[in-house]
Amino acid sequence: MSAVCEVQPSTTVTAVEALEVNVAMAKQDNDFRELLSELTLEEKVRLLSGESFTAAAGVKRLNIPPIKVADSTSGVRPSQHDSDMTTACFPNTTCLASTWDVDALEDLGEKLAKQAKMKSAQVVLGPNINMHRDPRGGRNFEAFSEDPLLAGHLAGAVVRGVQRHGVGSCPKHFVCNDSEYMRHYYDVAQSVDGRPLREIYLAAWSHLLRVSDPVSIMMAYNMVDGTYCSAQNDLIERILRKSWGYKGLVMSDWFGTRSTVEAVKAGLDLEMPFPVHRGPKLINAIKSGELTEAEIDERVMKHLELRNRTRESHADADAEEYSEIDEATNQTARKLAEGGIILLKNENATLPLDAGASTRLAVIGEFARDAVVTGGGSASCNPQYRIPPVEALKDVLSDPSRVSFSAGVKTRRVIPLAPASLLQTADGHAGVEIKYINDSSPDSPILVERREKPSVWMMGEFPKGLTVPGSRIELKTNFTCPSTGTHTLAVRRSGAFQLYVSGKEILTGSQPDVTTEQFIFNHILLESRVQMDMQEGAVYEIKLVVQSRDKMTIGEPTPYAASLCFEEFYDEEQAVIEATEAARTADTSIVFAGRDGQYESEGYDLGEIALPANQVALVRAVAAVSKRTILVLHCGNPIDVSAVVDDVDAIICAHFPGQEGSRALAAILTGKVNPSGRTATTWWKTLKDAPSFGDFPAQKDEEGNLTLKYQEGLQVGYRHPNKDRVQWPFGYGLSYTTFEYSDLKVSVSGAGSAATLDCSVTLINSGSRAGHEVVQVFVTPAEETSVWRPEQELRMFTKVFLSPGESKTVSLKDVLRVACSYWDETEKQWRMEEGSYGVCVGGLHSTFSVSEGELWDGL
Ligand code: BGC
Repeated sequence: MSAVCEVQPSTTVTAVEALEVNVAMAKQDNDFRELLSELTLEEKVRLLSGESFTAAAGVKRLNIPPIKVADSTSGVRPSQHDSDMTTACFPNTTCLASTWDVDALEDLGEKLAKQAKMKSAQVVLGPNINMHRDPRGGRNFEAFSEDPLLAGHLAGAVVRGVQRHGVGSCPKHFVCNDSEYMRHYYDVAQSVDGRPLREIYLAAWSHLLRVSDPVSIMMAYNMVDGTYCSAQNDLIERILRKSWGYKGLVMSDWFGTRSTVEAVKAGLDLEMPFPVHRGPKLINAIKSGELTEAEIDERVMKHLELRNRTRESHADADAEEYSEIDEATNQTARKLAEGGIILLKNENATLPLDAGASTRLAVIGEFARDAVVTGGGSASCNPQYRIPPVEALKDVLSDPSRVSFSAGVKTRRVIPLAPASLLQTADGHAGVEIKYINDSSPDSPILVERREKPSVWMMGEFPKGLTVPGSRIELKTNFTCPSTGTHTLAVRRSGAFQLYVSGKEILTGSQPDVTTEQFIFNHILLESRVQMDMQEGAVYEIKLVVQSRDKMTIGEPTPYAASLCFEEFYDEEQAVIEATEAARTADTSIVFAGRDGQYESEGYDLGEIALPANQVALVRAVAAVSKRTILVLHCGNPIDVSAVVDDVDAIICAHFPGQEGSRALAAILTGKVNPSGRTATTWWKTLKDAPSFGDFPAQKDEEGNLTLKYQEGLQVGYRHPNKDRVQWPFGYGLSYTTFEYSDLKVSVSGAGSAATLDCSVTLINSGSRAGHEVVQVFVTPAEETSVWRPEQELRMFTKVFLSPGESKTVSLKDVLRVACSYWDETEKQWRMEEGSYGVCVGGLHSTFSVSEGELWDGL
């Protein structure tokens, strides 16, 4: 056995160091303050809104450039919203969270800062610390966990890394934006009392602010207790600024400002992305005395301070946007994927595969060919490359010829765009001809253009002279059919439409009843499909006419879109038969299944969490004939695997693992890397088992208001008392080695607010492979607690690497009162009760005493 050594956990020690870095940023010279006196009222007001989707305004006269902002932590997106430019693509946030690795996330932050500078952005719009309240949450894939401490500490690590070199970070969305459906409108009405809000949803933020000092924070769209977050004085001024001492800038989410005067008074500094409620309306409010110039100055100072704190990144502001492939960045991406991928089941010695052996492998599933890298929405990005997982696997096997591939069933949600190679304009160019025609002059289009992609996608900005509403788009092409069969033609559009094939109207539809949000993100709502018998080689003249739509509400730009889509006939039964043929002759089958960014995205929630029925059929058919079956799941949210869990031998959760994900997965499958990911959120057996099942998404109350009631209160995820409903618990994940814990010691040191809870435990790698273990410290409440409290709560964690036979003593500590208190709703303060508390680590238990109770507030 190797020598025992002390591990200094990054989760607590670096918190202090991190704050020093952030304070150092704030200590830059104070010249910027003088700018305030040089600004006219109009210029001040200008600085309080955005000037584009990706920039807060500047003032040319004083050489104050705009502040460029960019989404987000899976990859820094280019400043042109519709740009195809690629970027380094990291794993999605649930994968990051499953690493439980503070140092790795800080490293990610540094790489994001580098990417931001390459794109001349001053602020990265993330990380996202929405909570995983319900497994249908559309954006859960881009948020960390159901546990506030894990989410806050990991998000804080990203913030520190991003800000180390002068780029700012903007954690989002403050607070309770844990569902996407109608996020602009719903009200999160607190259930029971304020404890869930404080102990879970706000707690994620207080943990984050304990370990980092982000230059800005983004408010949530929704309301909490009847007031929009972006206009809620209680949240911004009382809690964030006064109680927690937050000094940075507070911005709205995009089109998330809902008032002029109220929002300024509540402390909202910046309206993004355009002046909808500010601009002239704000000037009028000042002129009419509803707001004073002093109130405006306070908000402008926050803007100037942010500018000062991100000064270093302004130096690169004129850099051309570029996307360089850089090995150090890729190593970070790969390490995060390797650390976050979770081995959920491993029976019959199925994994790891022996890379040198002559085992025959049947790799099945579209996702094994078309790598899934990110989820959907603003957290998605265009990766620099995609490596098909099947190819990554072949690369690490001594005999790649023993790998067969079969695509299996379709995994897509919407019909893909018709490929340009099948389309030709009347004058012989690849693609389509598009006419933009005002209703007032139907015979004289205001613009005619050709495009390769059969798609027009506009948001508020239209060709000059086009009347909206009051116009139409005509898209024309000659389509050469690739095969004989009953194929699918589909249209995605913003308004009423007619689709003609060879002069005959074959499909019509009305204006889709969608919000701008749904238009941007949930494309299935814009789609209409029709099946048609077509002949190979025949040319069909296609015309799609889409009318402009009505204007949108809440100041958002009006969409205008028309896309022509096509999918060749395929026989699902035959696809399953082909896959099972491949499986039958192999030693091991690896089936890729789950969801991609078409299912899990910003802008909408999942309707269910079970695997799609066609994927279940595929997995079961393959498992029935395979000697051994490994199921690789791509997902952000947990999947209900009840229909297949007993059929397969091994299950891996591969998340949306970024551009290095396929290599990371191949390394884990073949044992080059020992899996060390641990679930950051409970996997319930079925959707009905989730405590929030009946209260998701928002529903209309008696008065017709969209309301989300957090009825499960504190019983979110592992805090729920019923463990029978759990498929895989929080903090779970298998390894190719074994770890044993011993010698747990717990004590309290120091006094008052400086008192700490100190734990140490010895850990040995008792197996035959090197690997990482995640040490998780849970605290159980005082024996005589006067209120209901969860059986145990995560209070500290760290990740440790051990060679076979190696042993380490891990020491962790945190502030005692943070580890022990609950929110006392009567006193409106935190209460630490005196008494005997418990600590559980890796199956060991110990106790400690708090001799004096305390009421406290703050961070
Ligand atoms: C999202 C934000 C994002 C912003 C800018 C909004 O729709 O909610 O998280 O940062 O768009 O893209």
